[in-house]
Amino acid sequence: MQSFRFVVTEAAERPKFRLQPFTLVSPGPGEVVIEMEASSVNPIDVKRAQGYGKRVLSTKGAGKFPLALGNDIVGTVAAVGPKVQRLKVGDRVFGLKAPSNSGAHATHVIAKEKFLRPAPAGFSAAELAALPYSFTTMMLALKGAGLDERSACGRSVLVLGAGGGLGQFALQVLAAWGAQITAVCETTNEELCKALGATETVDRFKQKVRDLPARFDAVLNFAVWDDDEFLATRLRPGALGHATTVHPLLANFDRLGWIGGGLQTMKDKRRVAAAVRHAAPGARYAWTVFGPDETALNVLAEGLAKGHFRLPIGLALPLADGAQAFDHVREGRAGRAILMCKNNTTA
Ligand SMILES: NC(=O)c1ccc[n+]([C@@H]2O[C@H](COP(=O)([O-])OP(=O)(O)OC[C@H]3O[C@@H](n4cnc5c(N)ncnc54)[C@H](OP(=O)(O)O)[C@@H]3O)[C@@H](O)[C@H]2O)c1
Repeated sequence: MQSFRFVVTEAAERPKFRLQPFTLVSPGPGEVVIEMEASSVNPIDVKRAQGYGKRVLSTKGAGKFPLALGNDIVGTVAAVGPKVQRLKVGDRVFGLKAPSNSGAHATHVIAKEKFLRPAPAGFSAAELAALPYSFTTMMLALKGAGLDERSACGRSVLVLGAGGGLGQFALQVLAAWGAQITAVCETTNEELCKALGATETVDRFKQKVRDLPARFDAVLNFAVWDDDEFLATRLRPGALGHATTVHPLLANFDRLGWIGGGLQTMKDKRRVAAAVRHAAPGARYAWTVFGPDETALNVLAEGLAKGHFRLPIGLALPLADGAQAFDHVREGRAGRAILMCKNNTTA
């Protein structure tokens, strides 16, 4: 059977895409071949298609064009490599692939067994495909801010970008852990954020971030880097920490090269870390960087088994129509964008 990848052929504001045939190689030790059902398009895919992160990601082979993006996997095991222990051909799974130039926007992918879990009943392929990447990044951010099941209970947590994918997951997890959550979101997301567990919402169009009180035990910034230093001042003495996923790490290296980017990154991080230390001596400050994480996948799998954790789906399209899914995310339209990857594509 012919395999296809949905690739970006060159980086541009409106990138060019192509469905590209490829020859599947045999899986290596600990790897399996997945016949894909669905994957998702996340904000990072849109940015990478525009050239973002090229310098740093190229060191991992993940900046080379043509570039198949996508980290989320839902599909069926089609072949197993040596030393695969749990999975067998025919198992339906979901999970993650680390950033590469042969991502999950494809009919077939090679993935590491350790980053795959059995697909739970009661979720469609599209619903599952929206979850692992965003959930994992959110869990890494919670960890970076010093939040876990024990530490979060009764603590006040400020979540910026609460109506987005990471924000919605953070609300669900933090509410289950007993945190008091202030969710900053747009007007149309206030009800959703409350339903997901926010104690209070702040409409970002009516109230300025600058007017937020300085009383939080933790801050999660999933929205805007420019606010990060100010947000650090919203921590109270004794706070746990502050994590951001919207830091300029990759952009600094793209813009300023290896040396300039490194210096700028140190400067940026130290500036906000100093603000955190000033507001809350001993609190953590973390720049979250996505990577497949087994602990986060286990928490997700446990939650899914209980019927928890969903994100609204905005659209689900065949792989060949992937450009529309990228448009959906780039234009900030509501709901996750899913690519249905079964090999019913035409090149
Ligand atoms: N560092 C990493 O490894 C990593 C990994 C994953 C994601 N990220 C980044 O983390 C961010 C969140 O990811 P996501 O998947 O949750 O994205 P998303 O679904 O697009 O949500 C982002 C949310 O941020 C809020 N927002 C957007 N523009 C804003 C503005 N100008 N001011 C205030 N709030 C604004 C909006 O929330 P409301 O609608 O509620 O206002 C939006 O829904 C993205 O920038 C993404 O690229 C980084």
